Amino acid sequence: MIGRDLLGTEDLDRADIERILETAEHMREIGRRTIKKVPTLRGRTIVNLFFESSTRTKSSFEIAGKRLSADVINFAAASSSLKKAESILDTARNLEAMDLDAVVVRHAVAGVPKQIADVLSAPVINAGDGAHEHPTQALLDLLTVRREKGRIDGLTIAIIGDILHSRVARSNIYAFRKMGAEVRVAGPPQMLPAAIETLGVKAFTSLREAIDGVDVVMALRIQNERLSGTYLPSVREYSATYGIDREKLKFAKDDAIVMHPGPVNRGVELSHDLTDHRPGVILDQVRNGVAIRMAVLYLLSGRRQEGDPRLDLESGEEK
Ligand code: NCD
Repeated sequence: MIGRDLLGTEDLDRADIERILETAEHMREIGRRTIKKVPTLRGRTIVNLFFESSTRTKSSFEIAGKRLSADVINFAAASSSLKKAESILDTARNLEAMDLDAVVVRHAVAGVPKQIADVLSAPVINAGDGAHEHPTQALLDLLTVRREKGRIDGLTIAIIGDILHSRVARSNIYAFRKMGAEVRVAGPPQMLPAAIETLGVKAFTSLREAIDGVDVVMALRIQNERLSGTYLPSVREYSATYGIDREKLKFAKDDAIVMHPGPVNRGVELSHDLTDHRPGVILDQVRNGVAIRMAVLYLLSGRRQEGDPRLDLESGEEK
């Protein structure tokens, strides 16, 4: 069950995912109380180590830690002032000396959270590494779909856009497939990785074919910061062909929902209308993000080693 770190959904099995989703349902309930705080992680220290910008992920990890009564430290890690591998590992060693209980890492380079995990004994949670993985985003997407549809098994999900540069796509492909969903991806040919079908997905360049009869349409942000060269000659053309609006959505199931991990380039990947209104569920995803991050922090930082007693979810007492 759930290893020491959470580096990617590739490493999780179905039972792990179900456990995280069940725990997150309980965490959602805590979030609806007037006093949104339980003593569960009292006395634990969690560090947010963000080397790349973030709004939703960073603030929701902070809120999640605080709702569980942990001390949360936001390490100001401007990527420009740090030279990759060596100084990151030095940073990690220094953090280790402070007896942390969990470290949440985001970095523009794939593999950095793993490098840090190799040095630290505290659990490391990947909050997005380059174009590799963003596991808590995929978990909150699963929670959102399961709450909307009552299940994940047997559903069809279409992920649209810049698949090549998207850690969200990769984590979602692994996670949805493990839970029994069919995953399709679509985008301009230069944004579809050559070997994407080896991940067990069907790839399309036609949006219409990709979303035909699907239960979930997930639009991805155009990753301007990761585009080198001429991946996208014209934003207007991209939006006309792959931007999701009510008209294009007609090809999906009548009750299909529309998702986006944010930040949305309004009017590019997603119409204004679907960004703000159902069947768009963008802010539900954000809400579920807090519950998922509480669940992950509880399950990983509640104990330091395999065999340590588990903490009771509400009281923090060992059991
Ligand atoms: C995503 C990310 O940073 O990977 N945002 C997020 O965490 N919600 C997606 C993106 O930046 O496009």
